[in-house]
Amino acid sequence: MRRQVGIIGTGSVGTSVAVSTLQAGVARTLWLHDLNAARAEGEAMDLAHGAAFYPACALRTATLAEMRQCDVVVVAAGRNSRPGETRLDLLRDNARVMADVGHALAGFEGTVVLVTNPVDVLTRVLQQASGLPPERVLGTGTMLDTARLRQMLGAELGVATNSIHAQVLGEHGDSELVLWSGAQVGGVPLRQWRGWQAETEARLAHAVRVAAYEVIQRKGMTNHAIGMVTARLLQALLRDEGRVLTVSRVQQGAAGLQGVALSLPTVVGRGGGVQVLVPQMDAAEQAALAHSAQVLQAAAASVAA
Ligand code: LAC
Repeated sequence: MRRQVGIIGTGSVGTSVAVSTLQAGVARTLWLHDLNAARAEGEAMDLAHGAAFYPACALRTATLAEMRQCDVVVVAAGRNSRPGETRLDLLRDNARVMADVGHALAGFEGTVVLVTNPVDVLTRVLQQASGLPPERVLGTGTMLDTARLRQMLGAELGVATNSIHAQVLGEHGDSELVLWSGAQVGGVPLRQWRGWQAETEARLAHAVRVAAYEVIQRKGMTNHAIGMVTARLLQALLRDEGRVLTVSRVQQGAAGLQGVALSLPTVVGRGGGVQVLVPQMDAAEQAALAHSAQVLQAAAASVAA
């Protein structure tokens, strides 16, 4: 791969994605696009001035059409949640933006990574508008929720975050579910961890679910962690890592789901999110995943109408 990465939308999230991507050293050229061309140009200049502090990467601006030269295009266009809003409240405003971007990327030969919320429904909107195969239209989905869960579990257990193996699935939003039955630390199932309580599961699942609202209430947005998450996804794509990540994509039968975009563990490499895995789930988790799919199908229907 030529490691050409495009970012559409140079607001707080798009620029955080840019900084994390530069520091990860995954791109050879970073192309920025924004409806406000001057802002995109200013961000490219500002980021380029830090060249001494990240692996070599050229900064350029591009039109939407020129983004088609990239290997991966990150879409961070649209508006952020305001305090008191859910991610699904953004749907009507951002669905129009995503449909336009999807039409502009029709026939694109690379992979699209969507960050804009509500990321799951918009992943489906963009996949349908672009006509690209589902494995090449990936939303960051519950990657950030999984990261938050691992961080909170690490703090709770006094174990390094990277030694925590736990996943959040479904909607990147209020109907998401934690796969507690499969969570483990060093091969020890979490539910067999000394002193583990069922109450802890409810408390941490809630903390993960409301984490974004807590940040938005204080600083008006979230941007840093989602930037790091997106750079991680770009690394798996551009280095063909075959890494399992809880990305969102339109499902084509996994877990009995058809046509809805949500997060399941997915093998991510050069070809996108090519292999969706169906983890073992207990009855409560299966029901929660089905509920999450229903919430997202209803939301998708509201914009299709
Ligand atoms: C959050 C935004 C990215 O969860 O949805 O912080």
